[in-house]
Amino acid sequence: MKKRRILLIGAGGWGAVHLAVYCAHRRWSLSGVADLNPRVLRRVQRETRLGQNQCFSDPIAAIDRGDYDAIGLTAPNPGRIPVLVRALGTGAPVFAEKPLVHTLADLKNLYRAISRSGSVLMVSQNYRFEPQTRRMAEFIRKRRDWGPLRTVLIDFTRNIRDFDDHPVTRLPASFGLNSEQCIHHYDLMRYLLGVNPLRVRARSRRAPDSPMAGWDTIDAWIDFPESTFVNYHASYYTPITRTPWGGRWTLDFLKGSMTWYPYDSDEHRIEFNSPPPRFRIQPSLRSPGRYYNSFLVGTSFEEFTRALDEGRSPECNLRDNAQSLALMWAVERAARTGRPVEFPQFLAKVLDSCP
Ligand SMILES: NC(=O)c1ccc[n+]([C@@H]2O[C@H](COP(=O)([O-])OP(=O)(O)OC[C@H]3O[C@@H](n4cnc5c(N)ncnc54)[C@H](O)[C@@H]3O)[C@@H](O)[C@H]2O)c1
Repeated sequence: MKKRRILLIGAGGWGAVHLAVYCAHRRWSLSGVADLNPRVLRRVQRETRLGQNQCFSDPIAAIDRGDYDAIGLTAPNPGRIPVLVRALGTGAPVFAEKPLVHTLADLKNLYRAISRSGSVLMVSQNYRFEPQTRRMAEFIRKRRDWGPLRTVLIDFTRNIRDFDDHPVTRLPASFGLNSEQCIHHYDLMRYLLGVNPLRVRARSRRAPDSPMAGWDTIDAWIDFPESTFVNYHASYYTPITRTPWGGRWTLDFLKGSMTWYPYDSDEHRIEFNSPPPRFRIQPSLRSPGRYYNSFLVGTSFEEFTRALDEGRSPECNLRDNAQSLALMWAVERAARTGRPVEFPQFLAKVLDSCP
């Protein structure tokens, strides 16, 4: 079978994970890489069979050359926007890292580019593609033997000093913690419950001695339909890293309770606080260890590939991701104003920008 060719834009940091996934894929080959950093391009040339004429320091030149069937984009916000607009303008399918955008104005720009070109866009919200997460969503949504989910207590706490001097520490206001990290958890909440929230209340903080330029801590209280309450605490400024990247989720159902650690690269753990349900959720699923990141990017890239094969819109397309972004902005609005945000009305305004 003829392989599809993909151009990767942004190959440092997390882009190196995408590079590994694309290079190892049986159905794809890497046709080029663009990165602003010449050291990254030299590393790519050493690690791949790409020639110098396939490595670009100018992402727009790489896009305009047109030697690809799809574009993978991991260049970070906010600088990614002109590149993403150009990529979507070509009509080629685009597989982009989260968070898709930081602002509603940028979302509108992307929407305009897509509506002119008809391009397919998928955002790699990889946390939701973990096999155990897929089973958990089925358990929650179909109300298997434990009945409806009543309360979710999410604790996400990492010490920012563990990743000192990462650009995320320099992002102002809500753009660091809320946009770059909490978007994973907001997307997971929507995915697991299969519905959007009704109301959002929140508060945020930047401690006077914080190493973060923007918010270091967020608390949010998010009401979902049918009296399901989510209590969310996220902090980048704690003395120790206490939870994995997915956080620690305590799920209280009508008839049972469990504590779950999604997106944990060491071990896929579930602790049952009451006798386990009959429905199997694989508390002992083995993690692929140091290959965990490429395993997970691989699972969301697989959905992108399948959607192209089947000629359908992928999961985490623009419309779906706009709803997770809306939850991110609702938390921002609620924390900034101190007032609750009625989510359905708030979401309607966001979706008006990308009907
Ligand atoms: N899904 C996940 O679990 C996950 C994990 C980490 C990062 N990310 C996301 O991946 C993206 C990249 O994060 P990172 O940690 O790799 O950042 P990074 O700063 O470590 O690396 C970004 C790379 O992109 C290059 N770059 C920057 N602007 C560019 C541009 N306009 N054109 C071409 N190249 C450009 C830089 O030179 C660098 O090599 C972000 O959107 C981040 O949120 C996702």
